[in-house]
Amino acid sequence: MFKGALFDLDGVIADTSVYHFQAWKKLIQDNFQQDLPSQLEEQTKGVSRADSLQRILDYLQIEVDTAKFQQLMQQKNEYYLQLLQTLTPDNILPGIKELLRELQQQKVKLALASASLNAPVILEKLQLSDYFAAIADPVAVKQGKPAPDIFLAAAGGINVTPQDCVAFEDSIAGIQAINQAQAFSVGIGSSVELAAADLLFAQTKELNLAQIETSYQQWKEGL
Ligand code: BG6
Ligand code: MG
Repeated sequence: MFKGALFDLDGVIADTSVYHFQAWKKLIQDNFQQDLPSQLEEQTKGVSRADSLQRILDYLQIEVDTAKFQQLMQQKNEYYLQLLQTLTPDNILPGIKELLRELQQQKVKLALASASLNAPVILEKLQLSDYFAAIADPVAVKQGKPAPDIFLAAAGGINVTPQDCVAFEDSIAGIQAINQAQAFSVGIGSSVELAAADLLFAQTKELNLAQIETSYQQWKEGL
């Protein structure tokens, strides 16, 4: 069995990914009276708050000064937190709790590798904090996803080398980050967007530990 499991949060553990985009949409509507096209949802998944805002402003060809940029980031987070007010363990995606339990039984160490500054609070609300031996701090890493830093920090947090870790992601940036960190990447989502994943499941409820382990071992032999 592999020794460590590194998890993204939004869109992997919980269905919070959609809330991020809802908050961005409201922010842009309220401030610039523009509608964000859905393609930006994929492009901002896994990407830090500041990098997401920059991508959105670049797309809309809007320039703002530093003070406005800060204000927009804060306002987006307020909208996002409003959407999180009703978050409960019911927001855990199907199959995830079972997978976390199985991994725990197999003595696999778990670490969180989320770009979100809200991750610790969300894990608490989901009542999942106790499963995780480490939560990588996105503030402490130099570069956000698609750079490997957050996954390297998560693996470091549980003292497991990345090659002995399996990592779960739903975003293009996240899969790139895992692959660069040289951990085994499990994608959850579409084969078009996540073609670079070492193993792919369409939805969390299809995650299968035996299949992940077999595929991981084959990958490891080929290193
Ligand atoms: C990632 C989300 O998990 O966290 C992104 O996929 C989000 O959409 C990023 O921008 C940062 O989150 P937060 O909560 O710090 O704004
Ligand atoms: Mg995600």
